[in-house]
Amino acid sequence: MEKTLVIIKPDAVKKNLIGEIISRFEKNGLRVAALKKLKMTKEQAMGFYVVHKDRPFYESLTDFMSEGPCVVMVLEGEDAIAKVRKIMGATNPAQAEEGTIRKDFAENIERNAVHGSDSPQSASYEIPYFFSALEIL
Ligand code: CMP
Repeated sequence: MEKTLVIIKPDAVKKNLIGEIISRFEKNGLRVAALKKLKMTKEQAMGFYVVHKDRPFYESLTDFMSEGPCVVMVLEGEDAIAKVRKIMGATNPAQAEEGTIRKDFAENIERNAVHGSDSPQSASYEIPYFFSALEIL
């Protein structure tokens, strides 16, 4: 079983989509192993997205991710990383397939409703960024 870190971003939380988004993952066989709602500071958002620190969108992305509460969770399942990415759809909602979360709910390439780890290496940085071992069940 594989674990991945998923964030329901501030745009989607603001629109009351927490339940809708979690249920799409659960209906596809993923299990919620850990979950909490929190509001990141700008510095915490910068630390989470440090791999993007040299990208032109880093400043704006970290402003967005710290503008309001998000829901962070660990999802577990077979091929959880790839499965979550398929359910989310492409980063840019204009390119996302029909029926994906981003096609249905993202506003644009930045305010794109959800985040999911893109590799086992990212997951091993992102999961402990928010959760201690005792909180993952
Ligand atoms: P996420 O999957 O959280 O990973 C990095 C985030 O940066 C991405 O979703 C978007 O929110 C944002 N992002 C990626 N590419 C761009 C871009 N070209 N312009 C603005 N934001 C972007």
